[in-house]
Amino acid sequence: MEKSSPCILFLLLVPSILFSLASAADADPIQDFCVATHPYGSLTTNGYLCKPNAAVTSDDFFSSSLTAELTTDNSYGVNASFADVRFFPGLNTLGISMARVVLDPGGVVPAHTHPRASEMVFVTEGLLLMGFVATDGRYFSKVLGAGEVFVFPRGLMHFQYNVGTKKAVEIVAYNSQLPGLLLAAPALFGSTPTIPDVVLAKSFLVDRKTVDNIKSKFG
Ligand SMILES: *[C@@H]1O[C@H](CO)[C@@H](O)[C@H](O)[C@H]1NC(C)=O
Repeated sequence: MEKSSPCILFLLLVPSILFSLASAADADPIQDFCVATHPYGSLTTNGYLCKPNAAVTSDDFFSSSLTAELTTDNSYGVNASFADVRFFPGLNTLGISMARVVLDPGGVVPAHTHPRASEMVFVTEGLLLMGFVATDGRYFSKVLGAGEVFVFPRGLMHFQYNVGTKKAVEIVAYNSQLPGLLLAAPALFGSTPTIPDVVLAKSFLVDRKTVDNIKSKFG
């Protein structure tokens, strides 16, 4: 009986540890604000260093980075502007950011994940198919029109695809100052240095020629 008690304690602790990890987005701020100084310099920290409080002005809580005129003449027919801590230093430690995405008809934000954030999408123009895959292999998707919202749970692989005949525009919000973006195909086939062909061939159950063919598009 006595032997089992550490085991029981462990079983009781594990769910609470897992829950506290699972519910963590960015760390909570421990001051009103911590306007980022760019660049880091030689010091790094979890987030960015703060500029001196007395030097903070209204402009630190403002950004026009989402107003950028976006051209979409690339192979995906898509472009985005970001209001995250890289372009909006006042977001440092606040755990939130936004982006604006423009997609041509047929344009796609290719399969990707954000390792540090859930993403809420608000469509302002056009018709967008969006979908994600959960860890149990289920695929969830929806076609959204203007004014409608969708959410991608944190870390799950997802995409957006313009199924309409006009330009589509979406505004997205993340519960992270810097959600991170890992595009599936470039990450696997265009990394530096590259993942060995044999690993990719075995991973995708294809031959190495096929791997080289895909790699050549992301090199
Ligand atoms: C996105 O739009 C900007 C502004 O027009 C442009 O400089 C940039 O090259 C575009 N990016 C892509 C991937 O097309």
